[in-house]
Amino acid sequence: MQGNVSIAGRDVIQIADFDADQIRLILNTAVELKAVLKRSIKKLPSLRGKAIVNLFFEPSTRTRSSFELAGKYLGADVISLNASTSSVVKGESIRDTLLTIESMAVDAMIIRHKSEGVPQFAAKVVKPVIINAGDGCHAHPSQALLDLLTIHQLKAPLDQINQLKIAIIGDILHSRVARSDIEIFKKFGADIHIAAPPTLLPRFADGSITVHDHVEDAIRDADVVIVLRLQLERMQAGLIPSEDEYSRFFGLDAQRLKLAKPDALVMHPGPQNNGLEISFDVNYSEQSAIRTQVNNGLAVRMALLLLTLSGEKVVL
Ligand code: CP
Repeated sequence: MQGNVSIAGRDVIQIADFDADQIRLILNTAVELKAVLKRSIKKLPSLRGKAIVNLFFEPSTRTRSSFELAGKYLGADVISLNASTSSVVKGESIRDTLLTIESMAVDAMIIRHKSEGVPQFAAKVVKPVIINAGDGCHAHPSQALLDLLTIHQLKAPLDQINQLKIAIIGDILHSRVARSDIEIFKKFGADIHIAAPPTLLPRFADGSITVHDHVEDAIRDADVVIVLRLQLERMQAGLIPSEDEYSRFFGLDAQRLKLAKPDALVMHPGPQNNGLEISFDVNYSEQSAIRTQVNNGLAVRMALLLLTLSGEKVVL
């Protein structure tokens, strides 16, 4: 099946736009690229002559630097535009920024923005490939792909993801990662459990995931526990009584982690608030896959750039 599958020329806006075969293609390509990343010379010529612009209107460490390195390791020319030092601060509109960058003969734009829908808007306004690097609370597709790759590598083959209980705990309301993760895990049939304070829990109407009031019920016997960052910057006053109370009732510490399977993976998209949603010892425990997630993020982003910009499936 994978032989005919392609995402060449496609925008990457949300996981819902991709089927399971396309996701398998991205992950298999990322696995091949992980081997390249172990070489002493990591650079490939696949995207030589291509130009990629990172447009980040929100802070980022992992996504921005990994997309930048991903493009460079594939031989492309990459620049990163920081909104705070761009003409946006002089009042330039998003449309004008996009059209200006497009006029410089770029092949792809990687966009992060605090408002939902900006990457979709970009895909309508300009021709280069658009990759959503996180838009508001809506979607973070490359994070979902790297999370699935991490689970696939450390827990189960893709065709056995349907045997896993995956718990997602914390600030679901503000989490584009939770929405994209749920989307991708559903495609592979995982048993998804979520828990959050009622004020941080959006409505999930379709009944395909199990919603818990108590974090312990979500974690119990889980194979994977994904902890979400408490997004204080998106939060209105009063959504949580206090950070102390949140940590006491919803934080993942070593005691709570014992409820999960003994070999359960702990994941977190980062950046972590140590001592708030995750304890320092759990963050750095043997069960933590957090640094593996970052490494997989680089490979997944290389795969996305390679497959969308060149259509190549075989890594040299
Ligand atoms: N997970 C994630 O998106 O991290 P950054 O905000 O550092 O990119």
